[in-house]
Amino acid sequence: MLCSLSGANRDGGFESFDPAGAGRPHLAFGYGLHRCVGAELARMELRTAYPALVRRFPDIALAADPADLSYRKLSFVFGVDALPVTLGGA
Ligand code: HEM
Repeated sequence: MLCSLSGANRDGGFESFDPAGAGRPHLAFGYGLHRCVGAELARMELRTAYPALVRRFPDIALAADPADLSYRKLSFVFGVDALPVTLGGA
């Protein structure tokens, strides 16, 4: 039996992204015996990288219509194929 982690992480009731919101349950790092061993490292890296990016480029903004973004169809880990942004004048 195979579980679609991408499908499991797509709850139609949650269509918005709220980076400041309380964590909601997800299976992005898998579950059980083979749960990602790098999950805590990845979390530490992202807690450092995202704030640093926004501090360096406070005007960073999406440079595409969200409806035009394409999502990985074959990847085990869900995500966009590309995320074009403008960095602003910083
Ligand atoms: C945002 C970043 C990451 C995501 C979304 C992610 C996601 C996942 C997922 C979904 C699995 C599969 C679980 C399964 O087979 O059911 C996995 C396994 C694994 N990940 Fe990650 N991962 C990330 C970062 C990392 C990092 C930074 C490392 C190592 C430094 C790492 C090492 C591994 C290893 C070794 C496994 C295999 C674990 C096993 O089969 O027992 N991952 N990861």
